[in-house]
Amino acid sequence: MQKLIIKGGKRLRGEISLQGCKNSALPIIAASLLCGEDCTLHNCPELTDVYSAARILNCLGCRCGFSGNTVMVDSSEVTGTEIPEVLMREMRSSIIFMGAMLGRMGECTVSVPGGCELGPRPIDMHLAAMRKMGVDIREGGGRIICRAAGGRAKGAKINLSFPSVGATENIILCAVTADGETVVNNAAREPEICDLCGFLRACGARISGDGESRIVIEGQLKLTGCEYSIMPDRIAGATYLSMTAASGGEIILKNACVQDMEPFLTVLEQTGCSIYTGGQNIYLRSGPRLRAVPDRIRTMPHPGFPTDAQAVLMAALTVADGTSVFEENIFDCRYRHTDALVKMGADIQVLGKVAVVKGVSALSGACVEATDLRGGAAMAAAALAAEGTSEITRICHIDRGYEKFEESIKAIGGEICRV
Ligand code: EPU
Repeated sequence: MQKLIIKGGKRLRGEISLQGCKNSALPIIAASLLCGEDCTLHNCPELTDVYSAARILNCLGCRCGFSGNTVMVDSSEVTGTEIPEVLMREMRSSIIFMGAMLGRMGECTVSVPGGCELGPRPIDMHLAAMRKMGVDIREGGGRIICRAAGGRAKGAKINLSFPSVGATENIILCAVTADGETVVNNAAREPEICDLCGFLRACGARISGDGESRIVIEGQLKLTGCEYSIMPDRIAGATYLSMTAASGGEIILKNACVQDMEPFLTVLEQTGCSIYTGGQNIYLRSGPRLRAVPDRIRTMPHPGFPTDAQAVLMAALTVADGTSVFEENIFDCRYRHTDALVKMGADIQVLGKVAVVKGVSALSGACVEATDLRGGAAMAAAALAAEGTSEITRICHIDRGYEKFEESIKAIGGEICRV
């Protein structure tokens, strides 16, 4: 098993060009199934989750070709309607294929998806929405068998009880080729939803209201292929900014979508970092010591503070002056990284959804195990700020979401290697 060795204590300084966004690449790859023609996706990050999505397309009979950050999908032929359980378990996003398969084939067989263990991650909202769209769903023996009456889902009015990102994506994917109009109320407003809709519109879909709470989709009989460029990854951006801030360094983040990162940048600025933005660049300069964030950092659906940036910001705040308080409102078990940070000398108390982080004067290197994708990245951020050497194992978690992780960190002067 591979591990990362990090020698900490250096001020990070340099430039990183941000990777394409994992959380929109995955639903967009699933959406390419709907076109029935060639699609070319640019700025697609090279990640294990992206390869898992391609394997799912392959097993349905589509062809995928990779050339650096460009992915070509030919979905003209579809030969299967079932995703094997082993592929479903590779990542949470496998469930997004349900909407795409229903949209293309009118039926599918899937199972409960895998992904990071962040507490219970049910798919009840996904299933309820599909049922509302006229899909008959039978569950048994770990399989979920879905069939749209008459081979085509029907437009429906769907009120989500929570703005779930995945459920919103699944509804959109199923609705773009459904019979009639679908309205999603209390839809997720994450930028990745807009990216998915941007891709689908380029394929001829009729969607309006994405980025707002009410999305309207007018079903079409057929979509076409297209060429599309995936948006930059705001969470990878938050990760490299947090790392640099924790080290007292300076960074230019290129190819960023500044507006999408505002909810994070507003909080990061309160640590005393100077942040300037211009075009697609973010410049950050950190002083020798960060300050604690005065207000409680509450993770919320977009445009609130993103849950995916909670762990990496926490890593930076372990070495800030004063006490910061986090409140995790999206996932039940998203503090699994805290034990590793405490092992490195951090002072963190977790009580239910609240984590109290008292800044310490310094962290020290330790051997830790990545618990999940963002938790693993937080451990790397802490290790870069710590005195001495750290080892991070189970880095398969990090590889699911960060493209060229060590190269990026080396580009800003971090001492990191994979063995
Ligand atoms: N939920 C339900 N029932 C459902 C669906 C969701 O109870 O049917 C609950 C979940 O258990 C969770 C909350 O609603 O407590 C939010 O879940 P959501 O569906 O919004 O999240 P997701 O689609 O599973 C995506 C991202 C996550 C990100 C969340 C929130 C992808 C592939 N994953 O997950 O990203 O944290 O939205 O923004 O897009 C990551 O990249 O590390 C990651 C975990």
